Amino acid sequence: MERTQVAIIGAGPAGLLLGQLLLRQGIDAVILERHTAAHVLGRIRAGVLEPGTVELITRAGCDRRLRAEGLLHGGVNLCFGGERHRIDLVGLTGGKQVTVYGQTEVTRDLMDARAAAGAVTHYEAEEVSLHDFDGPRPFLRFVRDGAERTLHCEFIAGCDGFHGISRPSVPESAMETFERVYPFGWLGLLADVPPVNEELIYVNHEDGFALCSMRSPTRSRYYLQCPAEERVENWSDERFWDELRRRLDPEAASRLTTGPALEKSIAPLRSFVTEPLRFGRLFLAGDAAHIVPPTGAKGLNLAASDVHYLSEALIEHFCDGSSAGLEAYSSRALARIWKAERFSWWMTSMMHRFPEVGRFGRRIQRAELEYLVSSRAAATALAENYVGLPY
Ligand code: FAD
Ligand code: PHB
Repeated sequence: MERTQVAIIGAGPAGLLLGQLLLRQGIDAVILERHTAAHVLGRIRAGVLEPGTVELITRAGCDRRLRAEGLLHGGVNLCFGGERHRIDLVGLTGGKQVTVYGQTEVTRDLMDARAAAGAVTHYEAEEVSLHDFDGPRPFLRFVRDGAERTLHCEFIAGCDGFHGISRPSVPESAMETFERVYPFGWLGLLADVPPVNEELIYVNHEDGFALCSMRSPTRSRYYLQCPAEERVENWSDERFWDELRRRLDPEAASRLTTGPALEKSIAPLRSFVTEPLRFGRLFLAGDAAHIVPPTGAKGLNLAASDVHYLSEALIEHFCDGSSAGLEAYSSRALARIWKAERFSWWMTSMMHRFPEVGRFGRRIQRAELEYLVSSRAAATALAENYVGLPY
């Protein structure tokens, strides 16, 4: 039997960041993670951090490598009709920039800080189950190394992603969910080749969306829109590079450097929100509570803003004896979540090929893009969402 103040389920960015912010205030938190640390670090996911996320990582004391190795980007590019247009993030937002630094690296830095502080994380925790979170003394059960264990706590933070156990542990009648599934996915490829461009390029092409991103000056991350039911085995590296080159503007296409894939995978696209985010002493944060399609680069950043609200609320509870922040957590976080859901849905709608919208829909999409790159007001709306709305 073990006891902690906050039991966190999931050692993804949400769980690790929450653990670190609490630890810095002297609040004890134990993390239960289903997989090994190596497995968690092996998942290639997000790459763009809002300044607010960088600020939180700084508050957690884990920004040293991010500051040294992260790439600051003051603009993003939209390509349509074979032409590239730059959105000046810095100029349109009063000086804000995004940081390109992979989720894998954020996770590694948080894991290292946690290990250095001697905080407890139970990796390979199997059969995690949640109990009595509607009363004053919640607890978790789990199996580790074949032995059944119990973790008593004051609060449970469900940071266990979309396929976790926290959300399904809440009676269906106590929550409402909102969902939109898109009829396509993203085929991603990671390679040790120099990025085709210094800044990201989001491409709207007749045959589908493409994205040129990166992890470092020598490592590129590219994506192609593909049918939802597509299989990664159908995509040789050569086929991927040929298709990407076809979707780029001529100048970028001529500069594309290809190489063997380090990783290739398909991610489905989905919008999803659960309401509320609090059920007694259980709080949901990050992908456990909501999913956005990756087009706006909001998934990881939204997990961070949830953690901001939740960590402040827990600190207020433990350090000042006030439950006001805990009471307000769900509505505060949801107000920001819905704005990021809207932005991600809008970017997705504008940049992808939707067979069902027909010729009329495609002309509307084109008009939207032309408006965006010719109106400072429209470009500002994109820029302020892309760098992240205030907390
Ligand atoms: P997660 O990172 O999912 O972490 C949850 C953790 O909980 C995991 O480590 C999991 O193993 C653990 N867990 C789950 N169930 C249990 C259980 N029962 N018991 C114990 N532990 C459990 N966002 C972007 O912005 N850009 C991208 O390009 C991008 N690509 C993505 C690709 C994929 C395939 C996916 C799935 C997501 C992608 N995202 C992207 C979204 C972004 O990665 C997520 O929003 C972010 O990981 C959310 O962090 P989290 O900590 O809430 O959840
Ligand atoms: C990435 O680098 O993986 C990435 C960047 C921007 C996005 C999505 C993914 O919108």
